[in-house]
Amino acid sequence: MSGSWAVVTGAAGGIGSVIARSAIGAGYRVAAWDIDAEGLAYLATELGDALTTAVVDVGDQAAVEEAAAALPEAPRLVVNNAGVVRFGPLLDLTVADWTTVLGTNLTGTFVVARTLVRRMIPAGGGTVVNIASVNGVTAAVDAGAYTSSKAGVARLTEQMALEWADRGVRVNAVAPGLIDAGMSNAVNSDPDVRERRSAAVPVGRQGAAQDVADVVLFLASDRAAYVTGQTVTVDGGLVRAALSGIPRSAPDRCG
Ligand SMILES: NC(=O)c1ccc[n+]([C@@H]2O[C@H](COP(=O)([O-])OP(=O)(O)OC[C@H]3O[C@@H](n4cnc5c(N)ncnc54)[C@H](O)[C@@H]3O)[C@@H](O)[C@H]2O)c1
Repeated sequence: MSGSWAVVTGAAGGIGSVIARSAIGAGYRVAAWDIDAEGLAYLATELGDALTTAVVDVGDQAAVEEAAAALPEAPRLVVNNAGVVRFGPLLDLTVADWTTVLGTNLTGTFVVARTLVRRMIPAGGGTVVNIASVNGVTAAVDAGAYTSSKAGVARLTEQMALEWADRGVRVNAVAPGLIDAGMSNAVNSDPDVRERRSAAVPVGRQGAAQDVADVVLFLASDRAAYVTGQTVTVDGGLVRAALSGIPRSAPDRCG
């Protein structure tokens, strides 16, 4: 993908910055979009000439159109990574928090993808990778807005893949588990909680942002040329362990 453009949203964040760096490592020039101007400026000093930055709210169609028009050419890769979480039980969650989470995670993915894909199709196509979550695979306590948004991202990924398959655009998603970066930094700042979260993962550790970026770049590559409409869970086995805590009586066990 030498010299092709990739757009990475939420690129100032913990996972997005590593995806941006990895995309540059794979030969892309990266347009980093985020609402965090300070974070983008820091990223630009770190990643240099292969990176351009734009302050863009992914849920704002006009702002996304403007940033898309400023790109020198249609991108070959779009990574919808911008995301937010607001915790709270559904009975108490404000509509403002619900709207913020759905507006960024789900509407933002829709707006950015379709705006850029309109340009990608006449330019020969490309790939889209959406960042979902294990919280889109199964519900979690106090995460109702987030789980709904990420389940929506997984379904939207299938819809995009279906609609754009014959236009030369593949669309897949990555569903990270407990990643030791970005929005998990706050909860991991308590060493006891961090250790217990790590112990809950079958492989015995939380993921790194690089674990997510590696799968994003694989799905974007020609090695995944026959893969579209899939959500790849990157969670060290966390979701598969959902039934592990159920007690069994001794006669149930073999051997
Ligand atoms: N860290 C984890 O454990 C984890 C697990 C599963 C999924 N994820 C997902 O990974 C993605 C990246 O999360 P992260 O952990 O790096 O968090 P993060 O908070 O470090 O990064 C998110 C970035 O998105 C940006 N952003 C927020 N709203 C935006 C908007 N409206 N427009 C443009 N940019 C916006 C933020 O400024 C931030 O830079 C998110 O989609 C998140 O839901 C993270």
